[in-house]
Amino acid sequence: MKIFIDTANIEEVKAAYDLGVIAGVTTNPSLAAKEGRAFEDVLHDILGIVDGPVSAQVTDTEAKGMIAQGEDFAALSDKVTVKVPMGLEGLKAVAHFAKRGIKTNVTLIFTINQALMASRAGATFVSPFINRLENVNHDGLQLIEGIADLFTTHAIPTEIIAASIRTPYHVTKAAQAGAHIGTMPYDVIRQLVQHPLTDQGVKKFLDDWSKYQAAVLA
Ligand code: E4P
Repeated sequence: MKIFIDTANIEEVKAAYDLGVIAGVTTNPSLAAKEGRAFEDVLHDILGIVDGPVSAQVTDTEAKGMIAQGEDFAALSDKVTVKVPMGLEGLKAVAHFAKRGIKTNVTLIFTINQALMASRAGATFVSPFINRLENVNHDGLQLIEGIADLFTTHAIPTEIIAASIRTPYHVTKAAQAGAHIGTMPYDVIRQLVQHPLTDQGVKKFLDDWSKYQAAVLA
């Protein structure tokens, strides 16, 4: 499973990208709104750092407007993936982008049928939301597994981005369930690296080394 960062914050993108593990970025209007500057500028900055798909979400609610917004985003770089909310209007826009060779990420996927519909409209990616499903007492990881099974059975090339990830456990389980990509906040990426036994181990190595050095130099 590839790792994407889910943020519109340029410092977080840089920090994660420096780790060498980031294959792409996803943004959404809520994340973009936190940045307090024009989204086009944010997108431009992210595109300057990341060598991989960068999802930019349309905010119009009708296919015509989604298409206009998405085409503007896509004109910036072939790394841009137009993120489109699931729905009838969204699917029309996705079908249009697919014909023009523009990558799409259909977001707010909560059922296997939604993923099937998005894929058949020509979506490059679908984004099932784990945490938001768990918040309403449904199993988000089972959804990932179901979509992965369906795509394998029918040889559907659309890739699954496990989204709305909150914990390292979500990451492990989404990868095991067959997600091609997991998109997550920087804080989760940081947690994936950490373990108290690693910290203890580093400390012990350094303590032992200092003692040895002190004995040799004494
Ligand atoms: C993914 O592309 C979305 O931006 C993201 O994961 C949204 O979900 P959340 O707000 O529940 O984290």
